[in-house]
Parts: sequence; C-alpha cells; structure tokens
Amino acid sequence: MITVGDADRFRLAVLASGRGSNLGAILDAVSSGDLDMEVALVASDQGDAPALERARGAGVAVQVLEVPSDRHAFGESLLRLLEAYRIDVVALAGFMRILPASFLAAFPGDVFNIHPSLLPAFPGLDAQAQALEYGVKVSGCTVHFVDEGVDTGPIILQAVVPVDPEDDVDCLSRRILRLEHRLYPQALGLYAERRLQRQGRRVRIRND
Ligand code: GAR
Repeated sequence: MITVGDADRFRLAVLASGRGSNLGAILDAVSSGDLDMEVALVASDQGDAPALERARGAGVAVQVLEVPSDRHAFGESLLRLLEAYRIDVVALAGFMRILPASFLAAFPGDVFNIHPSLLPAFPGLDAQAQALEYGVKVSGCTVHFVDEGVDTGPIILQAVVPVDPEDDVDCLSRRILRLEHRLYPQALGLYAERRLQRQGRRVRIRND
C-alpha cells in the first residue's frame, strides 16, 4: 500500500440527507487506518439528519445546507462552503439532491456517489423496489463518479447480491447496504492511493 503523507492527504466532504450508515462506514475506515483521507466536513440538506449526529460524535465539522429554489444559487453556496473547508473530494452518501451542472463544472475535485443497484439498471429513487418489481435475480451496489446525469457517471466499483423471490424492499436493502459499507471505503481508498485512472467512461484500477 502507498503511504500518503499528511500534506497529500485528501480532505473529504460527505454529503448525506438521512441515516448516515455509509458515512459511518467511511468514518470507521478512516479511524481504523484503512482509508487514508481526512473527513473534514459533513453537510446535510436536512437539519435533523442522523448523519449529522454521527459526524458530531466523530468530532467532524458539520454544516446544514441552505437549499434555495434556484439550483444555480445552491451550487454557488456549496462551492463556497467547500472552498472554506479546503475540500478536495466530495462523497455523496444518501444525498437526495441532484448537484447542479454548474457546480460540477466549477468544483475542481472529484465527486463520488454510491447507489443501491447495479447501474445502469435502476437509477434514481427507490432502486431496490425497482429491482424487485422488475424481477431481477441479482442486484447490488455501484460506486461511481458523479456527472451531470442521474446516476450516470463512470463506474468505479460494483458488488453483487442475489435477489430471492421472497425478498421485500427492506430485506433486499439490508443485504445491499452491508455491501455498500465495504464498497464505498474501498473505492475511496483506491482514490486515496492514486490508483484510479479515468479513460472516458472507463475507470481502470492500477495495480502498481
Ligand atoms: C444507501 O442505500 C445509498 O446507496 C442510497 O441511500 C442510502 C443511504 O443510506 N442512495 C441512493 O439511493 C442515491 N440515489 P445511509 O444514509 O445509511 O448511508
């Protein structure tokens, strides 16, 4: 494993709207030394999101995002916030808003997302319910770079779970979530080690 000195350590902001279990997995990976990044900010569009409590418990700075109806203004204020915290990388973890294209064009770092399906299948809301409704035999989760589309960016890692005909949304979501908690820190870890190489839509993982 490449050891990255403190000066080269990425400063990560996690944006979450709800429970924050993926945030928890990221914080655990950082504190166990498996993920060499600093979680420098957790921000939410929901002032009462449990994710904010998790962050406070871990001693991480938190901010509640004002979400003006003007999407461009939202992007601008998010940019200013990330600049103020000197954020290099953003991880969306159950953040239920679409980042404006103007923000993505202006933010100099990379933005990651995790989605509870095997993209490009079942993007958007209620991915697990969509998968059950469709009748697929396997589903899973995807970590990808964020682009202007909804869950359309270049895929970094995916993991697969079986789908049982008896599954309901809760049970399938729990099975997928267990994998999410491994996959998200793993993908961020590859990035921290400078091992992700983008070539158009394809993301290669360097082994050196
Ligand atoms: C996770 O299952 C994540 O994949 C999903 O929201 C959940 C958040 O859980 N994200 C999306 O559906 C994004 N389209 P968490 O708050 O416990 O991490």
